[in-house]
Amino acid sequence: MVYIFLLLMVIATFWPLPTGGRVYQNNIRLRTQKFRRSWNGPEQNTGQNYGGWLMRIVNVDGSSICGAAYYSPLLLITSANCIHPYRYSLEGTSVEPTAFLSNCENIFGLIDTVYTPEEFKYLGQYMDIAVIRLKRPIQGKLTEFIRLCSTPIKTGMKMTAYAWGFDSLNIVVQTSDARNGSVTVEDPKECNKKYRNLYKVSKTSFCVTHPKKPTDCRYDGGAPLTYGTELCGVVSHGPLCSDTSQPGIYTDINLVAKFIKDVEKKIASGKLVRSLLFQQKFQKYSLRKSSCEEL
Ligand SMILES: *[C@@H]1O[C@H](CO)[C@@H](O)[C@H](O)[C@H]1NC(C)=O
Repeated sequence: MVYIFLLLMVIATFWPLPTGGRVYQNNIRLRTQKFRRSWNGPEQNTGQNYGGWLMRIVNVDGSSICGAAYYSPLLLITSANCIHPYRYSLEGTSVEPTAFLSNCENIFGLIDTVYTPEEFKYLGQYMDIAVIRLKRPIQGKLTEFIRLCSTPIKTGMKMTAYAWGFDSLNIVVQTSDARNGSVTVEDPKECNKKYRNLYKVSKTSFCVTHPKKPTDCRYDGGAPLTYGTELCGVVSHGPLCSDTSQPGIYTDINLVAKFIKDVEKKIASGKLVRSLLFQQKFQKYSLRKSSCEEL
């Protein structure tokens, strides 16, 4: 009896995980190739999450500051406007996945350097993109990458937005769990008209129509926008969810992909070296872990 039980235990332990499923065998390593770990759409998600690529950047006090998308072992993509106010004081800031296998997992990444294009000006929309370089890849068996957009953005395209509500605290309660929603790409001329003198939509941005109900609006700085299984937009700088007749403004990933790939190449070739300014030796306080230990 005991032997049968032990045998079953052994089989259960070594039983191959479902192929093509969302639970990976290993953690991401420095040399993990992107294509081996690319998100394959919501059907492939395990459990209640939007995919192992959806991340949030969390302040030392545990509050979310930006959304981000995991692109390669050491790189994440977010908005330059969103990360800029924090970029020189990132001590204690971490990147956390939104997909976990269990509540007890305490997974996070630490930021090494933030790269933004030279053309970017704080509070402008042009080239509003930031590449975040991690110190180490983010752990977790659900963690994965998202591919960059391969479809040109056109008026009427339906996309998926993700948000936590940290930029619309007066409208919805902020949660550590992301929410999703559908948005439609708006005609750039219409969008400019609605903005009059407030904003001039830049050459690297596009507009989306928010759902009418402010509580359905998903718009947090740096948060991603997906089309199919690809990252096509990042929330840029614009009016928040309080007036949903004002379109949301996103950076068009197609038009900033060159910057992202340049950073990636320069890091690979050693042209961009790590910042050795900070030796982060803090112990991160994590709500997730403490709630787990209480069990
Ligand atoms: C939001 O996520 C849920 C659950 O993953 C999914 O069923 C739904 O289709 C998603 N909605 C959009 C607009 O992507």
